[in-house]
Amino acid sequence: MIDLRSDTVTKPTPAMRRAMAEAEVGDDVYGEDPSVNRLQEEAARLVGKEAALYVPTGTMANQLAIRAQTSHGDVVLAGAGAHILRYESGAAAALSGVQIKSLGVDGTFTAQQATAAIPPRDHHNSPATLVALENTHNAGGGSIWPIEHFEAVAAAAHERGLKVHLDGARLFNAAVASGVPAARWAAKCDSVSFCFSKGLGAPVGSIVCGSHVTIERIHRFRKMFGGGMRQAGVIAAAARYALTNNIDRLEHDHANARRLAEGLESIGLRVDPAPRTNIVLFHSDRDTELLRALESSNVLVSLMRPGTFRAVTHMDVDSEAIDEALDHCRQALTAI
Ligand SMILES: Cc1ncc(COP(=O)(O)O)c(C=O)c1O
Repeated sequence: MIDLRSDTVTKPTPAMRRAMAEAEVGDDVYGEDPSVNRLQEEAARLVGKEAALYVPTGTMANQLAIRAQTSHGDVVLAGAGAHILRYESGAAAALSGVQIKSLGVDGTFTAQQATAAIPPRDHHNSPATLVALENTHNAGGGSIWPIEHFEAVAAAAHERGLKVHLDGARLFNAAVASGVPAARWAAKCDSVSFCFSKGLGAPVGSIVCGSHVTIERIHRFRKMFGGGMRQAGVIAAAARYALTNNIDRLEHDHANARRLAEGLESIGLRVDPAPRTNIVLFHSDRDTELLRALESSNVLVSLMRPGTFRAVTHMDVDSEAIDEALDHCRQALTAI
């Protein structure tokens, strides 16, 4: 099986499993798990923040950041196709009572667009209190914000009193591919989340980082949302292993994504946009037939929307597997 549906499908390596088996643990709801505490310190340091909180999922990390930095009835500004809007099951409305206003067309937007979308302070309007930026952008095909753009949006938000959250589920893909360190992306944001369970190859877990005050608020809401875990050091050890060993190797996933994109184009499939990181969006009118034919040759990809497929490279597929997937794709195209 060549599974390109997502970078979440990776299995922990023997070395990661050893780190998990040997983890020192304690009850993290009492703040007594040494592996979780070390992970939180390391993650906060890596992105240049005062504090961090380990959480089960990227969705919880985002939703805690929204809950802690908004009030019911507020507006959150986010790019078109944002994960917090499209793929988190309506959580922002259900759990925080906020409305998300989506801007731009490809997940990024300009400072002018952000400013124009902030309603005037007037009792008729919902106050906009948070801007959420996603980097890399999942629905945009793993795209990366231009850093100047990103910083201008954050500055415009702060000037008008809004907080800024970065959904950095794949922040290290952005950092490795752009050469802009994670701490610089995080510097202009009040909260930053990232996932260990995607390109970094851990089986579970995400983290949210920010100031002591923000993380203290988030901690309270983590309890409220049911995200307090006990001897979580077993999984935190995998996340620590991932931070030490699996960041630099992301460039191999990016090279494999480019290899896949070139191969798909050479067999007549349109790839758009050109991949910047580990996500390849390709297009075909014969989506259902192609998906079925690929599945029957043990190649799995996702159908994002009618006519658009997503293939994601990750640590469990090497360049030979990419070539094999391309062979199956070529055969599938001739068979349908
Ligand atoms: C950009 C982005 N944010 C958040 C998430 C949510 O992560 P999780 O699946 O751990 O809830 C994802 C998952 O794919 C994502 O792509």
